[in-house]
Amino acid sequence: MSILQKHAVLEKNVTLLAIFAFLVVTIGGLVQIVPLFYLENTIEDVEGMRPYTPLELAGREVYLREGCYVCHSQMIRPMRDEVERYGHYSLAVESKYDHPFQWGSKRTGPDLARVGGRYSDEWHVDHLRDPQSVVPESVMPKYGFLEAKLIEGTYIGDLMRTNRMVGVPYSDEMIEAAQADFLAQADPDSDYDGLLERYGENVNVRNFDGAPGVSEADALIAYLQMLGTLVDFSTFTPDASR
Ligand code: HEC
Repeated sequence: MSILQKHAVLEKNVTLLAIFAFLVVTIGGLVQIVPLFYLENTIEDVEGMRPYTPLELAGREVYLREGCYVCHSQMIRPMRDEVERYGHYSLAVESKYDHPFQWGSKRTGPDLARVGGRYSDEWHVDHLRDPQSVVPESVMPKYGFLEAKLIEGTYIGDLMRTNRMVGVPYSDEMIEAAQADFLAQADPDSDYDGLLERYGENVNVRNFDGAPGVSEADALIAYLQMLGTLVDFSTFTPDASR
């Protein structure tokens, strides 16, 4: 019996066909899916990645609450037009500490994965207050009210603890100092040595919104200004062995 004739047996017997189809799909599925569970192999380690500082994490919460992801993606695809416009394509490791990730699926506005450092803090303040004042044709809503909402970081330690439960490596020390670090990052006159020691020398310490007190705008701008800046792409080389 030739192989084609053997196959004809399968084609004429629905039950047998279903059983074999199920086997093939199961094996194929396992081969594709199982390796992904061993995340160490899937996401390459890249120098520079660190968890969000307390202030950045608070800013990320504002970003989620206001639904910025409805209009903005944070995922640069490895295609030439995107890379030329936004910078190096996004690496999986860059979303490693995002719970949930903010890749998004809609770009009414531009991708924000590498918006950090692209504009000044003042630009962000003006843009959040009144997007049309800097980009006349913008359809982005106004978020000036964020400046008026002062926050103290009372619950930021809890949020970090929650993030730790799902795998973000916040140390006990980081959680202990959560509120102090939160306040220090928005106040360049404070003693922020501990903050830099815990999160690295590259953390931006500034009065982001230019007004006294820590506002939601401070937190949001601190978050926007670090997006995509952790990995140094002048020294990064993709690991081709993976
Ligand atoms: C209704 C859709 C919409 C929503 C919601 C929205 N944006 Fe935008 N955003 C836009 C559009 C359109 C632009 C491009 C024009 C402009 O710069 O205003 C933009 C531009 C931006 C830019 C400048 C990006 C660049 O590379 O030039 C930033 C930063 C930004 N938005 C942040 C935010 C944040 C933070 C939020 C949530 C608080 C938000 N946006 C919510 C539509 C939106």
